[in-house]
Amino acid sequence: MRKFFSFSVVILSALALVAVAADTGPESLVFKTKMKDVMFHHAKHVERVKGDCKVCHDKLWPQSAKAPLNYAAAMHKAAEKSKTSCAACHVAGGTAFASVGHCNKCHGNK
Ligand code: HEC
Ligand code: HEC
Ligand code: HEC
Repeated sequence: MRKFFSFSVVILSALALVAVAADTGPESLVFKTKMKDVMFHHAKHVERVKGDCKVCHDKLWPQSAKAPLNYAAAMHKAAEKSKTSCAACHVAGGTAFASVGHCNKCHGNK
């Protein structure tokens, strides 16, 4: 009985860990590009919007790292014009730095 109890505790803690990870998404994602790769700090971005997934999902992207980002076209000018993808925020007058002059803040960042 005691054995069964501790086994259940282990299983329940494992399930709790999975649940926490699923709640806030990945810590970070790396986007491969022909320029240097881009490290997207998912957890930091979630923190900045106070955990409100709806700011990005599924309005800007589905919850899948395999879905296209749609940010690359015309060196980010297309997304900046329509204020979509990363440029929903990363755009002149937006809440974060725009692409021009800030390539290195994303490409080859850590
Ligand atoms: C906010 C972060 C960010 C900034 C700033 C940024 N990029 Fe990017 N860049 C990305 C991401 C993410 C991708 C992948 C986009 C996609 O898959 O749609 C990308 C893709 C690209 C691509 C396409 C490469 C390929 O593999 O086809 C080019 C070219 C590019 N960026 C050039 C630039 C240049 C030049 C600058 C500065 C003027 C810049 N980027 C600034 C994040 C950024
Ligand atoms: C600032 C924007 C932003 C916010 C806020 C955000 N995400 Fe994401 N999330 C992304 C991006 C970008 C991707 C990758 C999309 C792509 O590649 O097309 C992603 C991908 C994911 C994935 C897929 C990971 C994988 O490996 O396939 C999950 C799960 C996820 N997010 C969960 C969440 C949850 C849960 C929240 C809220 C707690 C959240 N996200 C909030 C931007 C965001
Ligand atoms: C909901 C708004 C929002 C979206 C969407 C968004 N960002 Fe950000 N991002 C921010 C803010 C706010 C900052 C911090 C302010 C600043 O540095 O200008 C930031 C900072 C960053 C940084 C600096 C490192 C860090 O996290 O502190 C990188 C790199 C970055 N973003 C990449 C991206 C990429 C790539 C995408 C698209 C996949 C993206 N962001 C989408 C709001 C956003």
